[in-house]
Amino acid sequence: MSKFEEIQKVCLRRGIIFPSAEIYPTISGFFDYGPIGTLIKRKLIDYWREFFVKSEDNIFEMDGSLILSEKVFKASGHLESFVDPITQCKKCKSMFKADDLIKELTGISVEGKPTEEMNKLIKERKLKCPKCKGELSEVRLFNLMLKTEVSPVGGQIAYLRPETAQNIFTAFPRISRAMRAKLPFGIAQVGKSFRNEISPRHFIVRVREFNQAEIEMFFDPENPACPNFEKIKKKKIRILSHEAQKKGKEAELMTVEEALKRKILPNEWLAYFLVKEFEFYKSLGIPEDSLRFRHMLPEETPHYSKGNFDLEIKFEFGWKETVGNAYRTDYDLKKHMKFSGKDLTVITEDGRKIIPHVVEPSFGIDRTIAGILLHCFVEDKKRGWNWFKFPPKIAPFMAAIFPLVSKDGLPEKAKEVYEMLRKEFDVYYDEKGSIGKRYARADEIGVPFGITIDYQTLEDDTVTIRDRDTTKQERVKISELTGILKSLIDRKN
Ligand code: GAP
Repeated sequence: MSKFEEIQKVCLRRGIIFPSAEIYPTISGFFDYGPIGTLIKRKLIDYWREFFVKSEDNIFEMDGSLILSEKVFKASGHLESFVDPITQCKKCKSMFKADDLIKELTGISVEGKPTEEMNKLIKERKLKCPKCKGELSEVRLFNLMLKTEVSPVGGQIAYLRPETAQNIFTAFPRISRAMRAKLPFGIAQVGKSFRNEISPRHFIVRVREFNQAEIEMFFDPENPACPNFEKIKKKKIRILSHEAQKKGKEAELMTVEEALKRKILPNEWLAYFLVKEFEFYKSLGIPEDSLRFRHMLPEETPHYSKGNFDLEIKFEFGWKETVGNAYRTDYDLKKHMKFSGKDLTVITEDGRKIIPHVVEPSFGIDRTIAGILLHCFVEDKKRGWNWFKFPPKIAPFMAAIFPLVSKDGLPEKAKEVYEMLRKEFDVYYDEKGSIGKRYARADEIGVPFGITIDYQTLEDDTVTIRDRDTTKQERVKISELTGILKSLIDRKN
């Protein structure tokens, strides 16, 4: 069993993440987060918000509706261009994303190529359904948006949003005015997006309902300087350029200043976000060599973008895009201005009427969680159980409180400690089973510290703190426990 499969087993057993409505035959690509998964997801989003929104004084957050009128997607180009090539097995009726299937069977990348080219390859190479060897249908384009009809009398076609970005563009004039925002400024949004993926796969990596965290950073194209660029220009990130991809080379570690000079990156704003993303993912426990920014090839680049840099995480099944970074220029605002007839321009400090340009970092929260689960998972033969080395910032609980035995007044004392700590931290109390089993259960969901109340506690008001990563124990006074736990958490974060 692969590591990722092992992780999925833990997620099911501990109710962390599991298929939605699983008591019925399930629809693939939909997952529920249980209590532990919800804590991890909430903490990840809170951390993202601290790191990317609250730390900046010119980024505003909004929370828009999930269902949007068809008109929005006519304007944005999604009705026409948000498509994937699909082929179906004529025998077993399995559906395949044609470009993925061709790559899998021949090693040839046809992403973004016309369907005729895919059909030609299928015919020439006599490609068959990998499941039953049945004949494959003609490749056709399939729109990934989920359609619905609003209002009881019908007729109002709408779509579940395939990205959170369109709320931001359509709310742009109101928010910029209401917040008296001056360029450059950003609008961020965290929320659900929906895509009718042809073949959901790899657990929560490709699903049909997922969480995104996006920022649209609006700036004046005639004044594209990022005020913080000086601070970060010497920071290095790993970039897989077009040239490296053509030559089959590895990603190169370079400063963003150099990447701009070599015209790999299009502007300072994108450089700024890439540096922050690199730091963010490293701080979540993903090693540097399992992270890279791939400059998407022109044929793969989305219809709205003048350059995309995907932050990719290395999985067992290959590198997977986890953050899409796009230079969307004025594409969306221009289109919405044309289709809505509303004025989406702004007046610059020097009196010019312009449509701002936009860079967009678009994070997949579920894919980020999948990456964290994989890279924080420790297969530990010596300890006898596997565990997650989550940094405390996203661990579901900071500590577990254990009475050594469930008698002689230890549970009562342990509950006092629990009541004291829960005012400050996410902690839980556990008195079931042997202490070894309880350590294992806590390690398995990545709880950084275990606090044990034993017979000595009754004598001198001290407890032991066990460190998840080293299993070492330290005895401390209950009166100092909160402060000590805080500093231990900070050190591990
Ligand atoms: N607004 C731009 C946009 O949505 P994207 O590259 O299509 O760009 C951004 O998506 C991120 O959303 C991806 O990098 C990925 O992490 C996540 N994402 C996209 N489709 C997904 C899916 N079907 N399942 C899980 N995550 C997905």
